[in-house]
Amino acid sequence: MSYKVSRRQLAKIAGLSAAAMAGALEAAEAKPAAPPRNGGGFPAGFVWGTATSSYQVEGAVNEDGRGASIWDKFVRIPGKIEDGTTGDRANEHYHRYKEDIALIKELGCRAYRFSVAWPRVFPDGDGKPNPKGLDFYNRLVDELLKNGIEPWLTLYHWDLPQSLEDRFGGWRSTETCKIFGDYAAYVAEHLTDRVKNVFTLNESGRFVYFGYGIGIDAPGLTLPQAEVNQIRHNSALAHGLAVQAVRAHGGRGTRVGPAENIDACAPAIDTPENVRAAEIALREMNAGYLNVIMTGGYTDAFLKYAGPNAPKFTDAELKIISSPIDFLGLNIYAPQNYVVASDQGAGFMPLPIPKSFPHMNSDWLRVGPETIYWVPKLAAKIWKTDAIYISENGASGDDMVRPDGRIYDTDRIMYLRNYLAQLQRATSEGVPVRGYFLWSLMDNFEWVYGLNKRFGLYHVNFDTQVRTPKLSASFYRNVIANNAAGV
Ligand code: BG6
Repeated sequence: MSYKVSRRQLAKIAGLSAAAMAGALEAAEAKPAAPPRNGGGFPAGFVWGTATSSYQVEGAVNEDGRGASIWDKFVRIPGKIEDGTTGDRANEHYHRYKEDIALIKELGCRAYRFSVAWPRVFPDGDGKPNPKGLDFYNRLVDELLKNGIEPWLTLYHWDLPQSLEDRFGGWRSTETCKIFGDYAAYVAEHLTDRVKNVFTLNESGRFVYFGYGIGIDAPGLTLPQAEVNQIRHNSALAHGLAVQAVRAHGGRGTRVGPAENIDACAPAIDTPENVRAAEIALREMNAGYLNVIMTGGYTDAFLKYAGPNAPKFTDAELKIISSPIDFLGLNIYAPQNYVVASDQGAGFMPLPIPKSFPHMNSDWLRVGPETIYWVPKLAAKIWKTDAIYISENGASGDDMVRPDGRIYDTDRIMYLRNYLAQLQRATSEGVPVRGYFLWSLMDNFEWVYGLNKRFGLYHVNFDTQVRTPKLSASFYRNVIANNAAGV
């Protein structure tokens, strides 16, 4: 149906008055959750959450002694951000966090994934900590716990202190890795009396390549492949140092793991040969980060492919990188590689993706719900992990506010319904997925897209800062209440 059809016309088509239609919708949303059908659903104790990150929501970039991050500088380079906006104000979450926590509670979520802005806690990255910066996270954590919501903390979601970029070349230097370890130790020491779950780095797969390889994320560099591979290795080392720091300085029972945008491979057609090929592909396509973390070594195929561009490393570094973790966090949005078996190379062939492949409002966000079934299933098998969390999944939409002030994001609901159904398929087969964090709680500053792309369950009017639940918020509330995908 085209957008030109008005609500009144729509109601007429449906044989309802506009008022009756609004009433019917409200009744549908307010209805108590229906019991899960077919006796199915997610396992008891499944963790339902939402996620955000510091630079994308906090704003207040010059308040209470926060230092500059590489994103503060990057957003000011003309042409880098699609709509010319910055995260200076973003969602003003730094001041509105109580209101935002009430929104999380409203969904029925018992978990919230947020990130700590490193330059808030250490304005220069190292040296003297800034107690006012840490205090914000103390207040945030306390307010979450007061509302029955478990804080899940990410140490690094891309806002590297600019000072480290200036002094050491950022992630180009292992000096930054060591300083990250110290920062992780400090955060663990001060917050893990209440925070029980810590993610190390968010998406090495993205920030290394986009930031240092093709220059579309901060710090905006286009370095040769050998340097990019070395930086990826450094990010794995930083992860390992953070794991060790959390172990050494964290409160009893603190758990730690990565949150990686795994290169998502799935069999193009479900045959035993293709499934085996997808398994090999998943390992090899993630050989530069996740596989080395999980196994302590780079694969032969990876080293051969990288050739002279392969990272330089020592055995001692590999040992740190593969420090045992407590869970594997996977950000899963779009299928990256549909593969078939091949007798060439490592035994798999990724297929080209047709231009006509359906996607959400972001071009990159292809709709492949079975990805969230195959990837955790194969990952659990390859890396023998018994605790996987989907640390991000979600979708962008155009999210138009209709004349009645509401947002009927049925496209996002379609996406979530299909992905969650596939995730439920995985858990019902015993795949050890223990929780799910929906990206995102609310619309926010979407990096290179600025405010142009919306991923929230809550719509944000960035002029007034008013948050409005979209229809998908009701959908997610129902999923949580049922502990079932609702298919
Ligand atoms: C993930 C990031 O890659 O995807 C989030 O961890 C990000 O921070 C989300 O907001 C959507 O990505 P993008 O590039 O469309 O803003």
